[in-house]
Amino acid sequence: MCGIIGYIGKRNIIEVLISGLKHLEYRGYDSSGIAILKENKILRYRATGKISKLESSLPTSLISHQESSNGYSLGIGHTRWATHGKPSEENAHPHIDCNRNFVIVHNGIIENFLELKSKLQHHKFSSETDTEVVVHLIEKNYNGNMLEAIKNTIKLLEGSYAIVLISRLEPQKLFFARKDSPLIIGIGEDETFIASDVISMLGYTNKFIFLENYDYGEISNTEIKIYNLNSEKLQQRSVNIVNWTPQMIEKSGFKHFMLKEIYEQPQVLRENITARVFSEEIVFSEEIKFTKKLLKNIQKILIIGCGTSYHAALVCKYFFEHVLKIPVETDVGSEFRYRECILQKNTLVIFISQSGETADTLASLRIVKQYKLPTLGVCNVIGSSLFREADSTIYIRCGPEIGVASTKAFTGQLVCLYIFGLYLAKIKQTISQKRYIELLNSIYKVPTYIEQILSDTSYIKQLAKMFYTKHDFLYLARGINYPIALEGALKLKEISYIHAEGYPAGEMKHGPIALIDKEMPVVIIATKGSLLQKVFSNLEEVKSREAKVIALTNYGVESKSIDYKLVLPETDEFVSPILNVVPLQLLAYYIADLLNREIDQPRNLAKSVTVE
Ligand code: AGP
Repeated sequence: MCGIIGYIGKRNIIEVLISGLKHLEYRGYDSSGIAILKENKILRYRATGKISKLESSLPTSLISHQESSNGYSLGIGHTRWATHGKPSEENAHPHIDCNRNFVIVHNGIIENFLELKSKLQHHKFSSETDTEVVVHLIEKNYNGNMLEAIKNTIKLLEGSYAIVLISRLEPQKLFFARKDSPLIIGIGEDETFIASDVISMLGYTNKFIFLENYDYGEISNTEIKIYNLNSEKLQQRSVNIVNWTPQMIEKSGFKHFMLKEIYEQPQVLRENITARVFSEEIVFSEEIKFTKKLLKNIQKILIIGCGTSYHAALVCKYFFEHVLKIPVETDVGSEFRYRECILQKNTLVIFISQSGETADTLASLRIVKQYKLPTLGVCNVIGSSLFREADSTIYIRCGPEIGVASTKAFTGQLVCLYIFGLYLAKIKQTISQKRYIELLNSIYKVPTYIEQILSDTSYIKQLAKMFYTKHDFLYLARGINYPIALEGALKLKEISYIHAEGYPAGEMKHGPIALIDKEMPVVIIATKGSLLQKVFSNLEEVKSREAKVIALTNYGVESKSIDYKLVLPETDEFVSPILNVVPLQLLAYYIADLLNREIDQPRNLAKSVTVE
């Protein structure tokens, strides 16, 4: 997934583009570039590596550049996560046509680019990218009217695209087009932005237009024109106010965004709870558009997500089966979209996605919608594709999550879905009032318990120091905490690059126990619950193979097989996953920090995978 920014206005264009790219860097960071118009010429600068490398490569004369024609400057920028063509300067965006009349940035994948390229043999290509084909198509289709050229070009494209383009032939306009990759217009005072996400424009405005699929158009210093391939007339798009502040996208004294977001969990979870739970009553107000009748008739739930969001789906499977007494199925988006899933009527399908732009999750949503089943999104980004395409969407209000490793969004997803589960259980009358109150009270205490865990992380830091040189970790748990073993392992893998596996503790004896030796740290979740005695048996198994055992547990839980004990506040077994994940987030963070990893932007990863 890549990041795009475009600007037209009176600010210093270089500053706006570079600052925007730095806020987009979490979306992809193997190379970057900018292009501006100066004396009716296209100037383009590109570099591999971080945005700071591009910034330091710019000529000093350019830094103070200000287009003088009418006081308005315009330009485009791009930060890349390579899909077609290795990370290199030649493959970095922006890409330019043969005669240097058009220059383009693109996020997405043009699936038929080779076929299109084969019809452009007389064009001179300088990269391996799919994007460069688009700018040569624009060149080929341009007959004096840019919007026509864009319309005739995007009709040929298969796949996903968010495109921003400028041209020396129509110099005072930004041009754009969007399908299946996010593209948002930011409306300032006498200036306009266009970018892949809200975060890169927050410092300048909080008014946004979220472009829809097949939208295309132009932005000048006086107006915005939006058309859609499905209709010739000018489109009216609503302007949305996003109540995020510029401070939310700064580190505010934390070394990394990930650490800041771990520490934001108590506050964002408290906000999510108090926004929906009023004493014993749960209110979803406009978030849930389904009738009580439809909800009462739900006989099955299917939950789809990717990565950490899939782990949230797995946790909810256990929770929903406990409170709703109906079958719950889960799947990863990349599998669901290609399997011959048998979908039954009266099935509620839930899609979990922090970004709301994950290609595999969105593709699954579009398949399910063909079956006319009720679809519920759980998302952290207002205006995202998931937000707009699901029938209803629970907004998890965690504020921007910049760190690639998802933390506050994960616990936010769990808290919101737990509250939804109880809301549904009341409607379906599948839970006793006693159990309902017990769970509601346990959920209410989660933010305070997490504050307790965060109040003293010294022992977790010690454990990180003991084990950060290890090459393999095993995370074990049972029941509703099994997905937390998966999540703990994923956190470690993705930011420290240490191999780690999450496994159901009861499955050890069927193979993985062969891996264990005295070099392997085994992290096991042994908090109080109905399966604790079973977990103790697994503890014995791994201890007898000389593993180093790190156990998450509660006060009063004793076992001689535990080498290192992380004692957590005690809570209801079904609510414990929300607490248990926090020390695992911190363990991964401190190990990665000791290894000097790029924690907020780990290698090969991107914050939201908008391509399949
Ligand atoms: C989680 O730490 C990873 N960054 C990744 O697995 C992520 O959860 C996954 O790509 C799904 O993203 P989404 O929630 O935005 O759909």
